[in-house]
Amino acid sequence: MIASKIYAVDQTQVRIAKSKPPILLIHATGRTTTSGWTDGQLSPYVYLFPPEDGVQEYDFIATPPGPGQIVQQVLTPISATAEIPDMDILNYWGEGNPLKGIRVHGISNNKTVDIVPKEETTRIDTSSSPQSVVSHVTPTDNQDVPGFGDDIKPLFRDRDVSVMQAIAGFNLHNYDDVKSNADRIFERLQTDMPCDGLWPQNDIDKFERWKDEGMPQ
Ligand code: HEM
Repeated sequence: MIASKIYAVDQTQVRIAKSKPPILLIHATGRTTTSGWTDGQLSPYVYLFPPEDGVQEYDFIATPPGPGQIVQQVLTPISATAEIPDMDILNYWGEGNPLKGIRVHGISNNKTVDIVPKEETTRIDTSSSPQSVVSHVTPTDNQDVPGFGDDIKPLFRDRDVSVMQAIAGFNLHNYDDVKSNADRIFERLQTDMPCDGLWPQNDIDKFERWKDEGMPQ
């Protein structure tokens, strides 16, 4: 299935991760007209010349349900994230030409966030609550005590590792780092991490069991 633009964008959020060089994280939520859409993505516009308003635009796209797939005709929430690494906000469009905003387009509307460069981590739009998109729940087949190398480490994707290393300074693939931050990590796994959709409950439970059972290597 070819990805298509989603129906409407509800919110665009931008955060600037305090790293060197900074990373710009974009998080958008929106709605599709039926259930069954997957893999929400932000597809950047490519410009031959810098746009006059200094705004980088994205299409919010996702993979529609397949031909014979049974779907419900209901507005269904979807989210997507994008990252701009090596952010130089002040010279994004070339020397002296700053990035002034991010605009995300759906079919029926678009949402723009103004960028106000700051030294510190900035959350320009704070009105949203944590988003969670749980795609499926896998059955538990192993109730033994999980180990870090075999069971916990593979739950963290490479992008989780690189983003969290840059933002919070811990390495999610490193046993000692995860052990010493286990409580913080567990708290966020239950609320809003990873930023693009919570783990299936089964994996969150697995992390909790590992933490409670003395965090074996
Ligand atoms: C399983 C994967 C992840 C875990 C366990 C995790 C965990 C955490 C924790 C514990 C913090 C707080 C750090 C502190 O207090 O210093 C945090 C902050 C943050 N994380 Fe993640 N993270 C994950 C993936 C991601 C991803 C994929 C993104 C986005 C691309 C992301 C974006 C952020 C941002 C922007 C912050 C700082 C702002 C805030 O505290 O909300 N994280 N994360």
